[in-house]
Amino acid sequence: MNTSLVVAASSDVATELLTVFAVDAAPKDAAKPEIRLLAGDDAPARAAQAVLDGGEFKADSCETLLLHNPAGLQAKRLLLVGLGKAAKVTPHDVRKGAGTAVRFAKPRGLRAVALVVPVGDGLDPKLTVRALAEGAVLGDFDSDTYRSDRKDRSVQTAQVIAPPSMDRTAAEAGLREGVIVAESQNFARTLVNEPGNCLTPTILGQRAAEMCREFGIQCEVHSTEKMRELQMGAFLSVTQGSDEPPALIVMTWTPPNAADGPVLGLVGKGITFDTGGISIKPSDNMEKMKYDMAGGAAMIGAMRAIAQLRVPVKVIGIVCAAENMPSGKAQKPGDVQIAMPAPGKPGKAIEIINTDAEGRLVLADGITWAKQLGATHLIDAATLTGAVAVALGQINGGIFANDEDSYQRFTDGLKTSGERFWRLPVEDDYRDVIKSSIADIKNTGGRYGGAINAAMFLKEFAEDTPWLHLDIAAVAWVDDAKPWAASGPTGVAVRSVVEWIRRFAP
Ligand code: BES
Ligand code: MN
Ligand code: ZN
Repeated sequence: MNTSLVVAASSDVATELLTVFAVDAAPKDAAKPEIRLLAGDDAPARAAQAVLDGGEFKADSCETLLLHNPAGLQAKRLLLVGLGKAAKVTPHDVRKGAGTAVRFAKPRGLRAVALVVPVGDGLDPKLTVRALAEGAVLGDFDSDTYRSDRKDRSVQTAQVIAPPSMDRTAAEAGLREGVIVAESQNFARTLVNEPGNCLTPTILGQRAAEMCREFGIQCEVHSTEKMRELQMGAFLSVTQGSDEPPALIVMTWTPPNAADGPVLGLVGKGITFDTGGISIKPSDNMEKMKYDMAGGAAMIGAMRAIAQLRVPVKVIGIVCAAENMPSGKAQKPGDVQIAMPAPGKPGKAIEIINTDAEGRLVLADGITWAKQLGATHLIDAATLTGAVAVALGQINGGIFANDEDSYQRFTDGLKTSGERFWRLPVEDDYRDVIKSSIADIKNTGGRYGGAINAAMFLKEFAEDTPWLHLDIAAVAWVDDAKPWAASGPTGVAVRSVVEWIRRFAP
C-alpha cells in the first residue's frame, strides 16, 4: 500500500472513496445522537446533511455509511465511519476506524482511498495520524494466501488528508511511524499465517535473515551444532523428535553511535508446529498449532520496525525455532534435561512431565543466551499456555514482570500501541508447584494457574535480570474477522514491544 500525506480541504480531494470520521456529540442521556463529522471543514457534513437528518447513521464505533456523488465534493464516494461517543474518542478508535474504511473498500474493488485525519479533543495530531496509518495498513492484510482463486483486492494507495490547520511536521512523522510499525506487524502476521510445511524452522531463519539484510540488522542463524556447543539441553530436547533441524536466530540491532546503555534482549518462541510431542495433543484444532511461532514472529517484526525507526537503543532479538514432534527419537515424560549453563554455574536440571510444555523449554535457553550476549533487560513473547485464555479470555494478553521499572515502561507504551495486556503474578510463593524430586524443577505445575506456572518456570532463567513475559496464546489468532481486521494472525505484541524499546532511548 502506498501512503502519502496530502494537506488539503476535504472538498478538494479527488478520490474513489473519501473517508470522514464521525462522532456522536450528544450529551449523555440525550434521546437521539448528534452526529458531528471530524473533517476540518464542513463540506462533507453539508453533503451528508439529508442522510444525517434522517437519523439512520448513529456514528457507533465502526459503523459505516456510503454516499455516492456527494454534492460539493470532488470525491466520487463519501464514506462515513463512526468512532463512537465524542467525549471518549481516542487514537485507538481512529486506528479501528481507518481499518474499517480499508476493509470496506477491499471487497468493492476500490483500489484507492483517502482518509481525512480527524481533529478533536483528546486527539493528539501525531498519534492520531500514526494510528490512522496503522489502521489502514493493518486493515489491508488478508490471510487467504494459498487460495488458487485468490483475487488481490488490496488497496494500492491511501492518501492521508491533513486539514490545512494541522501541524505538518507532526503529521509527517506520525504517518512515517505508523506505516513502518504496521508493515512490520503485517510482516509478522504473514509469517504466522504460513502453514507448518511451508515455514519450517530453517525457512523461518531464512525469512528473518532476509529481512535483517534489507534493514541493516546483523543476523546469525544457527542450528543443532551451535546449540550443542552452547549446551542448550532444554531447547535441544524439544527439537530431538523432529526431522526438521532447529533454528537459533540471533538478530542484533546496533544503532549508529551506540553509547553504553541498556541492551534489550527480545526472546521469542518459534515453534513452527506444536503436536505436543509424545504428550500428543487431541486432533481437534491441532491445525491451529502452526501459530505457535507467533511470539518469535512478533520479535522479528519488532526488530524490523526499530531498525527502520533507527531507535537509538541496542537490541538483541533471539528466536528459538523448532518443531515439537513425536517420534522414536522424541523426548519422553520423565526424562531429565540439563538447560544451558551460565558461566561458572551448572545448567538447571529439568524433569519433563509433559512434552507439550515445550515453549518454556526453548525459551529457557533463549533467555540464558540473551543474558550471555549482554542483555540487561529481557522481554519474551510466546503462545505459551492454553491457561492464559482461561484466565483472561481473548481480549488481553498476559504480562508477567519481575521488575517494576521495566513493567512501567511497557504499560506506558500501551497508551500508544493500543494493545491490551493484563498483569498476572509471579510471586515466589508460586514456585513450589514446579519443584521436582529428581531434578531442580519440572516443566509443568499441575492443574491450577497454568499461565503463572509457566511464567514461574521462565523466571528461574531470567533470575535477577529485569524481565517481562508476554503470554499471547489467546490473542495471537482470531477466528472471526472484525470490521477493521481480517481473521487469522493478529501480529499482537509487535507494536507494544516497539514502544517498550523506544522508552529506553536516551
Ligand atoms: N502452544 C501451546 C499453548 C497454546 C494453546 C497456544 C492454545 C495457543 C493455543 C503450548 O505449548 C502448550 O501446549 N501448553 C500446554 C501446557 C501444559 C502441558 C502444561 C497447555 O497449555 O495445555
Ligand atoms: Mn505445547
Ligand atoms: Zn507450544
